[in-house]
Amino acid sequence: MKIIAVVSAKGGVGKTSISANVSAALARMGRTVLGVDLDPQNSLRLHFGVSPQHFDGLARASLSGASWRDSILLGPSGDYVLPFGQVNEEDRQDFEEILRTEPTFLLDQLRSLNLAHNALVILDTPPGPSVYLRQALSAAHIPVIVVLADAASYATISMIVGLIEQYCMPQPHFVDYFYLVNQVDRSRQLAGDVADVIGAQLQGRQIGVVHLDQSIPEGLACNQDVLSYDPHSRGAHDIMECAAALDRIVSAYTGEY
Ligand SMILES: Nc1ncnc2c1ncn2[C@@H]1O[C@H](COP(=O)(O)OP(=O)(O)O)[C@@H](O)[C@H]1O
Ligand SMILES: [Mg+2]
Repeated sequence: MKIIAVVSAKGGVGKTSISANVSAALARMGRTVLGVDLDPQNSLRLHFGVSPQHFDGLARASLSGASWRDSILLGPSGDYVLPFGQVNEEDRQDFEEILRTEPTFLLDQLRSLNLAHNALVILDTPPGPSVYLRQALSAAHIPVIVVLADAASYATISMIVGLIEQYCMPQPHFVDYFYLVNQVDRSRQLAGDVADVIGAQLQGRQIGVVHLDQSIPEGLACNQDVLSYDPHSRGAHDIMECAAALDRIVSAYTGEY
């Protein structure tokens, strides 16, 4: 099992959309994929067609000592999702206390799921430094930093890389970190230029670019991943390319092929 943590310093860059759509793409490529929502916003499940009224998830399971396995749901594209779950303020704080005091809690829980050896876990995280991000980085084999092609997003990269150096790199299972540039708008000269400059600066660590494409939010509104919603869209094409790149990286590092 390999754990990919999708991270960013800023919110709204597309971590949840990328996590869900790349999970669906990897499942279509034959991988066993589990999307895990480590963000109290609990929105990853919506991309898997799970009802907004569904309250179950990993936070409550952790507090009651139940197996995370019991909260896993099968999505429409054959990938699985483990929602964060809906919790009240007190329970959220209690769960965060567990994460604060047990640094390997997430990794231990994921290992206890006994997933297939070639399975991928895609971890969706809240933006910026938090106990969730720290757990995700400690558990991750491969962190993927989502950035926008703008100066503000670019300026936050060093902060996230600093956290990766602190929490990821010392782990024996750490593989390498990568970037994904999201919401690139080629119709705007500046955004296209910035995307190219960022691409050049990321020193071969770039997994891919996902263009600004309404098929991504529209798919979510229809409870579908972009590959089902509009397979010929730019967004679907970009997501497939990123998933294929990630698949190649995992295969290369694990010597699967
Ligand atoms: N490539 C894209 N093209 C168009 N809209 C996008 C794209 N990626 C994300 N979005 C939209 O941006 C908003 C924030 O995305 P979200 O995945 O929730 O970000 P995060 O999880 O980083 O906060 C959502 O409305 C989402 O539909
Ligand atoms: Mg999110």
